[in-house]
Amino acid sequence: MDMPVKKKYMIFELTKAFSRDGNPYLRMILSDSGNLINAIMFDPRLSFEPHKGDLVEVTAVLQHFNDKPQLKVSEMLFVSASAADTFLPKSKSDPQAMASELKRLLENSIRNPHFAALCKRFFDDKELWDAFQVMPAAKSVHHAYIYGLLEHTLGVVRLAIKITPLYPHLNGELVILGALFHDVGKAYELSAEAGFDYTLAGNLLGHLVIGGNILNRYMDKIDGFPEELKIHILHLMASHHGELAFGSPQVPKTGEALLLHAIDDLDGKLGAVAAIINRDGVAPGSWSSYDRILERQIYLPKQK
Ligand SMILES: [Fe+2]
Ligand SMILES: [Fe+2]
Repeated sequence: MDMPVKKKYMIFELTKAFSRDGNPYLRMILSDSGNLINAIMFDPRLSFEPHKGDLVEVTAVLQHFNDKPQLKVSEMLFVSASAADTFLPKSKSDPQAMASELKRLLENSIRNPHFAALCKRFFDDKELWDAFQVMPAAKSVHHAYIYGLLEHTLGVVRLAIKITPLYPHLNGELVILGALFHDVGKAYELSAEAGFDYTLAGNLLGHLVIGGNILNRYMDKIDGFPEELKIHILHLMASHHGELAFGSPQVPKTGEALLLHAIDDLDGKLGAVAAIINRDGVAPGSWSSYDRILERQIYLPKQK
């Protein structure tokens, strides 16, 4: 039999539930500063009321449930109330290096003075830019870790810079600008405290509307911003999810909007594949468990 181990974790997700015969249990996702693991605690008799974000010391046995590692917790002690700084999952890339690369790529590729003014307003908007740099790109699914929004945005901007020269009839700078801003509303949609949760604006408006409002506010302050370009930028924001079923009020109706949607989708899906492989600890030559969002299992090839 496996020996129980003691370890500190942050409670990342917490659900209180009852089994069919009426016994209480806790279903949790625990974070140890980089990795998330499912955990279950039957018949929890605790000396404290657990909350998301709490740092706890857990005594548990590692098991497998539905092909995924899971901790069966026998004891859980309260350590402190907030451990977000050290215990939330983080991007593996250095945030400062990503932030300066993002700024440099924009500086080198944007020539249109109105677009350059828009980028400057964003990078000078300390509150927003600071939040943008630390936020996850999603609550789950893809880039769901600290600095994830920055990493995903950089990924989409890099793709835009590589791909737009292949379609010279499109306005490449507009696609690059759309790549920078498409998820900017996520800086206010999610909160990075404790576990990742939606803010009130995130819940009631969503990042497409929040992002559109931010850009409207910036563009209104830039003298002579051409009206049609304003609308085109807002269209890129509004349509980037590609389909009405995924929250876009309009499908992409310009070449630039279709291209932005495609590269956003590509970076998001490849991020999700990496997250699944990491989450399940998939070894080369084996399969992940079934993923409900991608609706498939993922295979990790043996050789590169
Ligand atoms: Fe989005
Ligand atoms: Fe995105």
